[in-house]
Amino acid sequence: MHHNFNFKDVLAISSRPSWAIEDVLPPGAKLDFGRRFMPENLARTATSPFLDDEEARILNQIRGHEYLALFGLVEEFILPFVLDHARTQLSGDDHRVRAMLQFASEEAKHIHLFKEFHRRFTEGFSVPCDVIGPPEAIAAEILGHDPLAVALVILHLEWMTQSHYVDSVKDDGDLDPLFKGLLKHHWMEEAQHAKLDTLMVEALAEGRDEAGIQRAIDEYLEIGMFLDAGLKQQAGFNLDALERVTGRTLGEAEREELAAQQHQALRWSYLGSGMKHPNFVESLAAMSPAARDRIAEVAPAFC
Ligand SMILES: [Fe+2]
Ligand SMILES: [Fe+2]
Repeated sequence: MHHNFNFKDVLAISSRPSWAIEDVLPPGAKLDFGRRFMPENLARTATSPFLDDEEARILNQIRGHEYLALFGLVEEFILPFVLDHARTQLSGDDHRVRAMLQFASEEAKHIHLFKEFHRRFTEGFSVPCDVIGPPEAIAAEILGHDPLAVALVILHLEWMTQSHYVDSVKDDGDLDPLFKGLLKHHWMEEAQHAKLDTLMVEALAEGRDEAGIQRAIDEYLEIGMFLDAGLKQQAGFNLDALERVTGRTLGEAEREELAAQQHQALRWSYLGSGMKHPNFVESLAAMSPAARDRIAEVAPAFC
């Protein structure tokens, strides 16, 4: 076994007193729009072509809004998936049932937190920032796939969140403290989710032959392509918001080049950094070395 995760230990950690939304976004606390929200490793706005420093900072903040909006969006399909998975085994392992319900409850809290963040952001930012959706339609599309493929997407997203915080956010002293605190509190609970997802993937892969696993990988990649089309659209929405708030209109060629650069930044944020996460790769390899190799082959396109 490539890990030592179990339901009892996860439950012990996740039932410790956690945080409330008011702790993370206290009433009256304001985002500082003079600062960056996102680490440059994910935002890639400081290296965007055609933008001066102020425009790069504003696009970085738009990306911060997008980041939490898209987390909220994916958590809207994670929540029903986890509940459905828990529903199939309500008797037997009591630690398991409680750990899975705790997981679902935390995701419901995160969805709520991200909506509250959206409200605060919109108050301070003078123009609306569009987000792909609606979440119900995206959730329905994704949940129509093989459950093992969906569980792999979720595992990918949870480990990705871990590496974003640890590798890029934690030691970045220039980020807006309120935004950074929000990422920190989200990360704290996600660490337990990643372990539960690992166990969920194992349970769903159990007893599958190689062909069955490869079919799930096909569908994991299909979901990835579906999300990628959404990311391309989102990169366009982000530039619309930048143009609206700065009053600047980008030339056609400028806009095209900037949109492509930012689409790649979103690909790295949500696809490549998950596909390449060592713990995600280990779960793939434990299922099937061929599955690991297939993902490793496509990952560079999303980095
Ligand atoms: Fe979450
Ligand atoms: Fe999560």
